[in-house]
Amino acid sequence: MTQLTTSTPVSRRFDLSQQFTALHKISVALSRSLDLGQTLQAMIQALYEHAFMQYGMVCLFDKSRSALFIEALYGADTEVVKGYKNVRYRIGEGILGTVMSQQRSLVLPRVSDDPRFLDRLNVYDYDLPFICVPIPGPEGIPLGVLAAQPMELQEDRLPASTRFLEMVANLICQTVRLVGHMSQETEALRQERDTLRRKVKHQYGFDNMVGNSQPMRQIFEVIRQVAKWDTTVLVRGESGTGKELIANAIHYNSPRTLEPFVKFNCAALPDNLLESELFGHEKGAFTGAVRQRKGRFELADGGTLFLDEIGESSASFQAKLLRILQEGEMERVGGDTTIKVNVRIIAATNRNLEEEVRNGRFREDLYYRLNVMPINLPALRERQDDIVGLSQFLIAKLAAKQGRELRISDGALRLLMGYSWPGNVRELENCLERASVMSEEGLIDRDVILFNHSESPSMSSPGQGRVIIPPALGDAAGDSDMDDRQKLIAALEKSGWVQAKAARLLGMTPRQVAYRIQILNINMHRL
Ligand SMILES: Nc1ncnc2c1ncn2[C@@H]1O[C@H](COP(=O)(O)OP(=O)(O)OP(=O)(O)O)[C@@H](O)[C@H]1O
Ligand SMILES: [Mg+2]
Repeated sequence: MTQLTTSTPVSRRFDLSQQFTALHKISVALSRSLDLGQTLQAMIQALYEHAFMQYGMVCLFDKSRSALFIEALYGADTEVVKGYKNVRYRIGEGILGTVMSQQRSLVLPRVSDDPRFLDRLNVYDYDLPFICVPIPGPEGIPLGVLAAQPMELQEDRLPASTRFLEMVANLICQTVRLVGHMSQETEALRQERDTLRRKVKHQYGFDNMVGNSQPMRQIFEVIRQVAKWDTTVLVRGESGTGKELIANAIHYNSPRTLEPFVKFNCAALPDNLLESELFGHEKGAFTGAVRQRKGRFELADGGTLFLDEIGESSASFQAKLLRILQEGEMERVGGDTTIKVNVRIIAATNRNLEEEVRNGRFREDLYYRLNVMPINLPALRERQDDIVGLSQFLIAKLAAKQGRELRISDGALRLLMGYSWPGNVRELENCLERASVMSEEGLIDRDVILFNHSESPSMSSPGQGRVIIPPALGDAAGDSDMDDRQKLIAALEKSGWVQAKAARLLGMTPRQVAYRIQILNINMHRL
C-alpha cells in the first residue's frame, strides 16, 4: 500500500481541495449551456482535467428503445467517437447494464479482470480501475450511468473517487431533468408556433378570399404575381373592401411568410409619438425613454410592414417615411448609429391620393415611391356578383364560430343583393352576424336582415346606404303605426334590447319582433 502511494506522482493525487476545485468546474460546465450533449461533454472534460479520470462517459437510458446509449464520451480517438452513437447496452448487459439494473455503483480495481467488461469501445486501459455509478432519476429508475477510469492504481482511494463520481452523477441528474423540461417546453412552443403559422397561413390564404367577379379574379391574379417579389404595393379601396386582407395575403404568400408581418396605422398617433414608434428610440432619448426600444421598421426587418391609412399621415411623417424608403436606413430617435433594414412595404388607403397630391396634402415624391404596384379594390356594389358567394362564405364562418348549422334563404340573398353596401364587405359581415344571432332555427330569412342605413330607395350617392325595398316590405313600412312603434321600443327597453325577451313580453314570436324592428325603422344600435 505505502509503496503504491509513493509511486503515484504528487500532481496526480486527488486530495480534498482538488476535489472541490473539480466539483466546482464540473458544476460550472453543467450550468453553462442548454445543449445536453455539449454540457455533458464539457463536464467529462473537467473530470479529466481536474479529477484525474480518463474516458469519462455518460450513458442515458432510452425508454422507447429500452437500452443505454452513450450521450458523451471523452478522450477516445475520433473513430471511436464517430461510432459511439450506435453502441447500446441493454439492462443487465455488461458493467454499465448491471449498474443500471442493480441501481448501485460498481468499482473494479482492474477493469480487465471482470468478466462483465465487454470492451466494446476498445479505449480503456486494461490495468487501471473502472468506476461506474448510476445517475439517479425520478421514480427510483436511474436516468443512466456515469463511468470513468481513474488514472491511478491506488486501491485505497477508490471509495473516495466513487463517492466523488456519485456526487457528480447527482449534479448530472439535475441538469438532465432541467434540459428535458426545457426541451419539452421548447417542443411544445415549437408545435404551437407551427400550428399558429399554419392557421395564419390558412386564414390569409387564397381560400379565405372570396371573389368570383371579373375584377376580383384579376386582383387575385395580381396578388399571386406580386407576392413573389419585394415590390411595394399600394392597396386602395373604400372602407371595408378588404385592403388589410389583401395585405395579409400578399405577405403570407410571399417568400417572407416566416418573417414578421407588422401593421402600423399611420393615422392613429400624434407626430411626436409616431417617430419613436416607427424608428424606435435609444435609452434616455426623451423623458420617459427608460430603455432602448425597437421601432416598427426594425421589428419588421426581413418581413413586411403594412402601413395602413397612409393617406391620413402628416407632412412630417411623410418626410421621414420617404427617407427610409429611399435610403433603406434610419436612426433610432436619440441615436446616431445608422441601422439598415430590409422591409417590404405594403401601404393602404381609402383616400383619393391623386387628389391629395393636387391639394398639397400628400407628397408627390412619396406617392410615386408607394404607387409602384397599385391594387384597386372595387366597392362591393360594383361587384354584386360576389354578394352571394361572400354571404355564403361568411355564413359558413359564422356557423363554425357558433358551432351550429346556418343557412340563408334565397329571399334573404335577394335582399342583400339589392342593397348598396356603403360599408362594403365589413358591413355585410356585420349584417349577417346580426341576422344569424336573430335566427333561432339557423335559417337566415329576409325578416332578420337589418341594414345600417335603411334610407329610401332614391338615395343613391355611393357613400350612402340604399335599399331597394321589396313591395311587401314597402307596403308594411307605409302602414307603420306610432303606437306600435312605441310599444315595441318600450318592450325592447324593458328587456335590455334582447329581442327574444321583448317578443315574450309582447306575446309575439322573435321573428315577428325582428320584422317589426325593421319595418318600423328602430335603431338597434343602442345595443
Ligand atoms: N374578398 C373577401 N373575402 C372574404 N372576406 C373578406 C373579403 N374582403 C373583405 N373581407 C372581410 O371583410 C372585413 C373587412 O376587411 P378589411 O379589414 O381587410 O377591410 P379594409 O379595406 O382594410 O377596411 P378599412 O378601410 O375600414 O380598414 C374583414 O373581416 C375581411 O376578412
Ligand atoms: Mg383596414
